[in-house]
Amino acid sequence: MRFDILTLFPGIFSGYLGQSLLKKGIDAGLIDVQLHDIRRWSRDKHHKVDDRPFGGGPGMILQVEPVVECVEAVQQMAQHEGTQPQEMQAGHLVMLSPRGRTLNQKIVEELAGKPRLLLLCGRYEGFDERVFDILQPDEISIGDYVLNGGEAAAMVVIDACVRLIPGVLGDEESSQHDSFSRSNFSGSNSSGGNLSSSNRLLEFPQYSRPREFRGHEVPEVLVSGNHEQIARWRREQSYLQTRKRRSDLLTDDEKSNDQ
Ligand code: 6GU
Repeated sequence: MRFDILTLFPGIFSGYLGQSLLKKGIDAGLIDVQLHDIRRWSRDKHHKVDDRPFGGGPGMILQVEPVVECVEAVQQMAQHEGTQPQEMQAGHLVMLSPRGRTLNQKIVEELAGKPRLLLLCGRYEGFDERVFDILQPDEISIGDYVLNGGEAAAMVVIDACVRLIPGVLGDEESSQHDSFSRSNFSGSNSSGGNLSSSNRLLEFPQYSRPREFRGHEVPEVLVSGNHEQIARWRREQSYLQTRKRRSDLLTDDEKSNDQ
């Protein structure tokens, strides 16, 4: 999967891209991340890409020309490079913006299914509105709070997507157990009992050695060796954790379920 990050601050990403899971994915050729400095498309000799808003008001606005021209240039870069169909190569344009649709695991799955994402990071008070009119990006927010720019949000999108790329995680299975993952969805659980109609659930609690620390013990069932009982306990715990912490994820039926 290829990510193109369009930003005024490419340096923000170097630490993140050089570490751990992401680096392994990049080294293995499963992930390709390219950074593009929007300033390179400035028409100004001082590389300025922002200006004051018409009508007055505080802050600066990212100008329409450098942003649109940067996106178009990056889209075209890949069209010259590979042999894949053009549509695939231009990429899916995501703009990180607090007014976008709020990211969740379903949207992550949708984005992770694309061969190429362009992630356009805003700054300052925002973009000239004509950027949206011309490029019609898929606007994504990562929650109801305000960040200084889209860079941290772009890292969130990449981080969530790469977990779903086969081969990126060490253990192929481990993303499927995650809270909110597709396999925590109803129906995938044949012996689900009272959990069979469950919606997305939170993860069950996990333990490792030692078996006792400061009087806190590992639940007996997990060291019993009885895999059926362990599986049942985990399903129950997923449900109980979800009811206690995030009952908004449950259906009305599940909420009134005493199990
Ligand atoms: Cl994507 N950008 C900014 N600036 N603020 C945000 C956001 C994005 N998502 C939540 N808040």
